[in-house]
Amino acid sequence: MTLLPRSLFGRTLLVLAAGLLLTEVATQAVNFFDRGSGVYRLAAQQTALRIAQAARILNRLSAEQRPQVIEEMNGPTFSVVLSSGPVHVGKGFVEHDRYERPLAELIKLYLRSEWSTSVQITSLGRESRPGNYEAIDSSPLEQWIARHFYFILPGTYSIVSQIGLEDGTMAVFYARIPQEPLSRLESLLPRLLLALAIFMLIGAVAVRAITRSLERLARAADQVAVDPEGSPLPEHGPSEVRSVINAFNRMRLDLRSYVLERARMLGAISHDLQTPITRLRLRAEMIQDAHVRAKFLRDLDEMEAMTGSTLEFFKSLGNDTQRRPLDVGALVGSLCEDWSETGREVILQGVPRSPYNSHPRALRRCLDNLVENALRYGNRAQIGIEDDDASLRISVRDDGPGIPEQELERVFEPFFRLEESRNRDSGGTGLGLSIARNIARWHGGDIHLRNAPQSEGRGLIAQLVLPRSAARAVR
Ligand SMILES: Nc1ncnc2c1ncn2[C@@H]1O[C@H](COP(=O)(O)OP(=O)(O)OP(=O)(O)O)[C@@H](O)[C@H]1O
Ligand SMILES: [Mg+2]
Repeated sequence: MTLLPRSLFGRTLLVLAAGLLLTEVATQAVNFFDRGSGVYRLAAQQTALRIAQAARILNRLSAEQRPQVIEEMNGPTFSVVLSSGPVHVGKGFVEHDRYERPLAELIKLYLRSEWSTSVQITSLGRESRPGNYEAIDSSPLEQWIARHFYFILPGTYSIVSQIGLEDGTMAVFYARIPQEPLSRLESLLPRLLLALAIFMLIGAVAVRAITRSLERLARAADQVAVDPEGSPLPEHGPSEVRSVINAFNRMRLDLRSYVLERARMLGAISHDLQTPITRLRLRAEMIQDAHVRAKFLRDLDEMEAMTGSTLEFFKSLGNDTQRRPLDVGALVGSLCEDWSETGREVILQGVPRSPYNSHPRALRRCLDNLVENALRYGNRAQIGIEDDDASLRISVRDDGPGIPEQELERVFEPFFRLEESRNRDSGGTGLGLSIARNIARWHGGDIHLRNAPQSEGRGLIAQLVLPRSAARAVR
């Protein structure tokens, strides 16, 4: 079982959606890191400026005034401590070392003086513990993220900057690096859904147009089976589809002319064979030995019957190349009448709902062959007509011996006859069923044979199925 949609439409949309989703996620990731580092750079500049300004203010104040001002300055992300000498700060990640020097340079630039300035970026650990900057109690994953994407984890780092003021006091600043808030991810989903919806809508319209052309083509291919003489398919759609339709139309014409050509050739052979057969018959009459002569004439009769049937079959197809709406009920009715007039028992039940597009002579011949078989191998024929949207079905049932199950298909082969019928010398050539099936298939239909169920007595049921729609239910 596959989870892929079955239709081209579904599959194309799926590929489009997957492509869009991947692109969107990748773009968001790039954006996120890019913007994150941008925010970090800006924030670092702001922090440097703030540290420099605070140092300059503290430098101007007397030792007594400083604590009060420091109290005002201190906050959750920024604090100052005064000390008599440098404070020991734990080493942070080496990845951060390259940021320390430029930051110190920047602070110096804002200080506009040559006071000793050092900067260290250090980890605070999961719990920020001022005064204990050596502690790193974050998880390995947090540490990994912290090393490479320092701006993602909020409140994990502190910039510790130590500036020596003019009176020898060391001002130690602890400033948190502001982080890019992760909450931006929350807006990702609605935006993604919106993009997906727009994309799917446009994609669906475009893909639909293509698959519609293909569907038309598939329908036309079905239609060829039902009506080989139908009009060619109009060439619409994108160039690729147009060229497929064009090739298809050409193939259909080739196929048709091939079938007609073959039919004409067989017809011509059968026709031309009649003259030598007649000549042979004349010569056979001269054979002295009555026994041999009779055998000769019987073989010639058989040959004549074969060429005659073949010829008639092709005539029935060749003469009306165009189909026309036919009242099949009336056709079957007149067929029954003709057989009844010869004293045979033929019963008709049911009527078709509407005329059927067909070759009248061919269809008559097809049904006549079935009725002829029923009357030849049984005593009476019972014809039933059923009609619905899918197909028109005409069944011919007899009360004869039926056909052994394993031979039900073989009897359609040309010149194939069952042993008993040969012995009965019933005079058939074994072409009737193959001609009938040929005609049925020429109409896109078929003939099915089955033996009547035991409970209903013996007999054979031959059913002619003619499709009403292009659906391929008949093959
Ligand atoms: N209704 C039937 N009941 C029993 N056997 C049948 C029936 N219809 C056909 N068959 C068998 O199938 C064989 C082939 O039938 P088909 O109609 O093709 O040839 P045919 O009847 O022998 O000759 P013809 O060419 O004159 O029709 C027959 O010879 C017969 O053995
Ligand atoms: Mg027959």
